[in-house]
Amino acid sequence: MLQGTELSLEEMGELAAIIPASDPEVRVRYNTIPNFDRPSRRSIIPVCEPTLGGNEAKYVLQAIETNWISSAGQFIRDFEAQFADYCGVKYGIACANGTVAMHLAMATLGLEPGDEVIIPTFTMIATANAVTYCGATPVLVDMEPHYWQMDVEQVAAKITPRTRAIVPVHIYGHPTDMDPLNELAQKHGLMVIEDAAEAHGGEYKGRRTGGLGDAAGFSFYGNKIITTGEGGMVTTDNREIAQLAWNLRDHAFSHERHFWHKFVGFNYRMTNLQAAVGLAQLEQLDDFVVARRTNAQAYTELLQDIPGIATPQEAPYAKNVYWMYGIMVDEQVYGMNRDQLRRVLADNGIETRTFFIPMHCQPVYWRQFKGQRYPVAEDLCKRGFYLPSASSLPLDELKYVAKVIREACPALG
Ligand SMILES: Cc1ncc(COP(=O)(O)O)c(C=O)c1O
Repeated sequence: MLQGTELSLEEMGELAAIIPASDPEVRVRYNTIPNFDRPSRRSIIPVCEPTLGGNEAKYVLQAIETNWISSAGQFIRDFEAQFADYCGVKYGIACANGTVAMHLAMATLGLEPGDEVIIPTFTMIATANAVTYCGATPVLVDMEPHYWQMDVEQVAAKITPRTRAIVPVHIYGHPTDMDPLNELAQKHGLMVIEDAAEAHGGEYKGRRTGGLGDAAGFSFYGNKIITTGEGGMVTTDNREIAQLAWNLRDHAFSHERHFWHKFVGFNYRMTNLQAAVGLAQLEQLDDFVVARRTNAQAYTELLQDIPGIATPQEAPYAKNVYWMYGIMVDEQVYGMNRDQLRRVLADNGIETRTFFIPMHCQPVYWRQFKGQRYPVAEDLCKRGFYLPSASSLPLDELKYVAKVIREACPALG
């Protein structure tokens, strides 16, 4: 039987100090959240939630009424075409979730055991797993400290004769610095696959994420900027990648005859029902991005003068879509550490989430990356967490979150 990898704190040594405490229980402190501008309806503020205020129900009903509920149908075709268009590319390949979108994109490269794919260590584990599913080896780089993205300057040193691809991940909705990365990839003949799971609508120098490399993978999980419940999409301008991805997504059925297969394919299909939700969500994406950027600006204004709280920065080249609004806590200056502050927030009905635990600290990858250290990612993991960030987060709730952080600050007495 499969056994999970156990990793003791002793074995982790110094790295044990960066691992977050488990999530505090969010308590109902008030019957309703104390409000500022208008009565609030709820007693707990979730870290994220879907915003389903458009044509979702209407389109789903249409799919049911027309009997197209499986993985063919007009909503799939429209969602693929319109999402690709939104990203500024020709092709969209809808699939079951963001993890398999990344796997599909990488599978089209024909990676072999021993091939290497460079990824940031500070990411959600699906990025690394997609490489592993292909039998290839993830190779890690650290983050830059300003925008918390892959440090592109460190990538060159990790390129070897076995390197096949580079995967920038637009962490928390802020695009990676793509020009130098693409230049490097071109020089070495490498593919660039964006992990855009968290960055719908993000922009790099005026160009949308999903169209900044050879291919990209998006997630439409329930906490993403647009959602299909579960779902994902590969986007690309490359016809060959698109056709292979469509084929591999659907068991690699051959066009020559039925039940004839030239590849080990997958069933990674999205249903027409999910695409119906996706299309309705896509119609609202621009509004969601405006709402997130407005909320981020409000958070930053309310938090930036609190000692020991660092708010997220936006690079001059970037349009950050703030999938999650993250902050960093300096224990010495603020007066308590990240986990203690999360506890205070939870006691006041506010759900939060810690930043990612880097890949080199994961039990399952521990032996593979043993002895490697990535100080920026480790610092992010130790001190970072994100605040309620839904597109529909009301301003009065956001102000309440900021007020709790301010009033909890021991340094402000
Ligand atoms: C950076 C990143 N990549 C990939 C994924 C995987 O997406 P999904 O959960 O839809 O499989 C996520 C999801 O949370 C993510 O944050």
